[in-house]
Amino acid sequence: MTIEIPSPVLVLLVGPSGAGKSTFARRHFRASEVLSSDFCRALVSDDEADQSATKDAFELLHLILAKRLQRGRVTVVDATNVHASARRPLLEAAQLFGVPAVGILFQLPESVYQNRNQQRPHRKVQSDVIVAQVSSLKESLAGIENEGFARLYRLTSVTDSDSVIVKRLVTG
Ligand SMILES: Nc1ncnc2c1ncn2[C@@H]1O[C@H](COP(=O)(O)OP(=O)(O)O)[C@@H](O)[C@H]1O
Ligand SMILES: [Mg+2]
Repeated sequence: MTIEIPSPVLVLLVGPSGAGKSTFARRHFRASEVLSSDFCRALVSDDEADQSATKDAFELLHLILAKRLQRGRVTVVDATNVHASARRPLLEAAQLFGVPAVGILFQLPESVYQNRNQQRPHRKVQSDVIVAQVSSLKESLAGIENEGFARLYRLTSVTDSDSVIVKRLVTG
């Protein structure tokens, strides 16, 4: 699958923990283009797994997002984004700055998330957290077409996600 990336753009990665979002972001985007909720948690608390830092981490993420979109930078949000309520303020920021939003949905078999989570060297999440994220994602996918994304790309198998080509569109 070829994913077309205009510039500027807001890219939302959407998928449960273990989907491979951070790996995907590292592979296809520059480090400075990626805003990760885990990294923002670490910035405010020195611990990317500290759930008590989530609110502060997202405030920081939204602040940096607004600065980047205002500057017309390609920006990828690497967070689970499985709830419509998490995506909404991000999409609103894109709209405010007139930047199109592209969604990349990781809709892999749940066993992939669970296996990858188990194989993580550190920071495994509880398996029932992933179960809940999968169910939230399924629920919120029903209306995702109407949330304001310019394009949605669905990765429905490991082969799909591993063979993605990111094509940067030349604009201007
Ligand atoms: N395409 C892939 N093939 C094999 N292993 C992968 C792939 N993507 C991620 N992983 C592994 O799965 C685990 C979770 O990946 P990660 O990118 O951190 O997921 P997420 O950010 O969605 O939680 C990591 O240990 C990573 O090395
Ligand atoms: Mg991650």
